[in-house]
Amino acid sequence: MEIIMRTTLLFSALLLAGPAAAQDIEALKRDTREKALPVLPKVVKMMQDTVAAEGVAGAIPVCKEKAPALLKARAEELGWKMRRVSLKTRNPERGMPDAWETAQLTSFDVRAAAGEPATALEVGEVMTQADGTQMFRYMRAIPVGDVCLSCHGATAEIAPEIKDELAKTYPQDRATGYSKGQIRGALTIERPL
Ligand code: HEC
Repeated sequence: MEIIMRTTLLFSALLLAGPAAAQDIEALKRDTREKALPVLPKVVKMMQDTVAAEGVAGAIPVCKEKAPALLKARAEELGWKMRRVSLKTRNPERGMPDAWETAQLTSFDVRAAAGEPATALEVGEVMTQADGTQMFRYMRAIPVGDVCLSCHGATAEIAPEIKDELAKTYPQDRATGYSKGQIRGALTIERPL
């Protein structure tokens, strides 16, 4: 009896330590989506409302302060880490991807070019950290919509006063030249398991 119990315990321990099964990943993706993604349309709406009420220059603080603040607040509620990253950053101090994120962003661009809608691109992976604990990493593409073009579109589309304003704060700005539907970057999440 005791041997059977021990064997069962050993098996459970092995199962727990083993790589996460495909259905676990799907469940984690779904749960992460439900908890985190509602922030994204909130930011877009805030951007649209602010541009309408205060013009493009008045909306700079939405992408600069309000969007990161909303993400941070939600992340703190959840006990996760959440931020925006891009292959072409405007603010390299905040938006630089790490090696894993760079690989995922590159693969999003490949998948979008192959016809997957940018609005639905996501990836999720369970990773074992250096200290042996596990973490779920998730990324979701952030597509370029109409309202984004006045600050991230082709330079000809950006008003001269906005260009000046952006150049002052972001001398290393690489986040222009986008067209509608392209991938501006991604929401990236680290969720302790
Ligand atoms: C009014 C100008 C403006 C508009 C419109 C705008 N952005 Fe931004 N965006 C900025 C600024 C300024 C930053 C730099 C923020 C910072 O300092 O962290 C930025 C940064 C970002 C970043 C973080 C990565 C990076 O490049 O540093 C993402 C992602 C982003 N914008 C997506 C969008 C999307 C998607 C839209 C449309 C829904 C949009 N932006 C519309 C001005 C704008």
